[in-house]
Amino acid sequence: MSKKIAVVTGGTGGIGTAICRRLSDDGYSVVAASTNQEKAQAWKESEKAAGYDFVTVKIDVGDFDSCQEGCKHIAETMGPIAILVNNAGITRDGFMKKMSWDQWHQVLQTNLDSVFNMSKACLDNMLEMKFGRIVNISSINGQKGQMGQTNYCNGYDYED
Ligand SMILES: NC(=O)c1ccc[n+]([C@@H]2O[C@H](COP(=O)([O-])OP(=O)(O)OC[C@H]3O[C@@H](n4cnc5c(N)ncnc54)[C@H](OP(=O)(O)O)[C@@H]3O)[C@@H](O)[C@H]2O)c1
Repeated sequence: MSKKIAVVTGGTGGIGTAICRRLSDDGYSVVAASTNQEKAQAWKESEKAAGYDFVTVKIDVGDFDSCQEGCKHIAETMGPIAILVNNAGITRDGFMKKMSWDQWHQVLQTNLDSVFNMSKACLDNMLEMKFGRIVNISSINGQKGQMGQTNYCNGYDYED
């Protein structure tokens, strides 16, 4: 039996690395998706030194077409995607009074649109296999709110 394919967005980051390692330890072929391929290559080499063999792929999770193309490439070169971990996320903090549209939009695009973009791009694989798991990584700040994070917490801001 060949290994199931797991895709971790933001796999090259802090939490992403731990997720990639755990999935690899559990027997999955793991693909880390991120935007900066120079950083991804350095990460891949340091993970290799730690005993892990990861595949990296360039996907901008905030861009629908990039997700479609990246997931199609993974399915064609490795096999259908069975596990998707929507982990990529950014912060662009600032009080709402000073927050720009770009700060708002970048965070919503990367942290929220990404969940639709990537899930949609993996769904056909999962339906064809009659197996699939999608895990969305959030934050406690999404539940309780946090000062200066109107964009990250989606609409809650306070000043004390
Ligand atoms: N760290 C915390 O304390 C904490 C707490 C609660 C929740 N979280 C959540 O946990 C997740 C991971 O956090 P982290 O601290 O591990 O983050 P991190 O170390 O900053 O890593 C972020 C990862 O996301 C990738 N990324 C950023 N923009 C992307 C895009 N447009 N397309 C694809 N990949 C993109 C980055 O790679 P590139 O820059 O190369 O694209 C990097 O691999 C996030 O969703 C975060 O909101 C974090």
